[in-house]
Amino acid sequence: MSVKPAAVYDPVAKAFHWGIALLVLIILVTAGFIETPQWLVDDQLRKTIFIIHKTAGFLVLPLTLARLVWRSVQIPPPLPIKKMPLWQVIAAIFTHRSLYVLSILTPLAGWALVSTTHKGLVLFGFIPMPSLPFLHPYMASIDIVRSFFASLHETFAILLASLIVIHIGASFMHHFVDRDDILLRIAPKGMEGFLKKIRGR
Ligand code: HEM
Repeated sequence: MSVKPAAVYDPVAKAFHWGIALLVLIILVTAGFIETPQWLVDDQLRKTIFIIHKTAGFLVLPLTLARLVWRSVQIPPPLPIKKMPLWQVIAAIFTHRSLYVLSILTPLAGWALVSTTHKGLVLFGFIPMPSLPFLHPYMASIDIVRSFFASLHETFAILLASLIVIHIGASFMHHFVDRDDILLRIAPKGMEGFLKKIRGR
């Protein structure tokens, strides 16, 4: 007997999606403030922004891994491939996989970067995390190591932000142009009515 695939994402998968999406938004906004001039953001505020950025950034890593474990046991609804052109199916699969990969690599590169500083990674400003294996604060003086991880972290973050823009654009296209139910399948409970209303049912 075959099991009929689910029509919508289950509540846990939805919670992972929107929880991680919120964290990623916080990470990108706080990243934008890190390089701002001193007259705009004083040292105390910059320190707080850094704590929020590093903590939210780190949390994305275990949450994404847990999300992938959950995804492997709770199979998500399949893409409606018969109703989508082939290029859209390929683009959706590529984007989703890349979002997962970058949600792991970007925080890892950030953790590697702070592992080579004397401050290290301190969650919420008071929970110290160990350095990643093979990395140590004594490397703080080795410019090439620091700048390597800094460029890696920045490159992954730019790729992630660009894919998110494409991803959000695609989901709005599905909802408002194609008028299909792709966005509704993952929408938080209680938002379906609102989303249908702004689409005009
Ligand atoms: C306003 C923001 C966002 C919107 C509107 C949105 C919308 C969507 C939609 C419509 C889907 C497809 C659901 C389906 O197949 O029916 C989806 C899936 C997905 N989204 Fe987002 N998303 C947003 C933010 C993000 C962010 C920030 C990330 C980054 C981590 C992300 C990662 C993913 C992934 C990885 C999937 C694939 C889920 C699966 O495994 O099937 N999304 N999203």
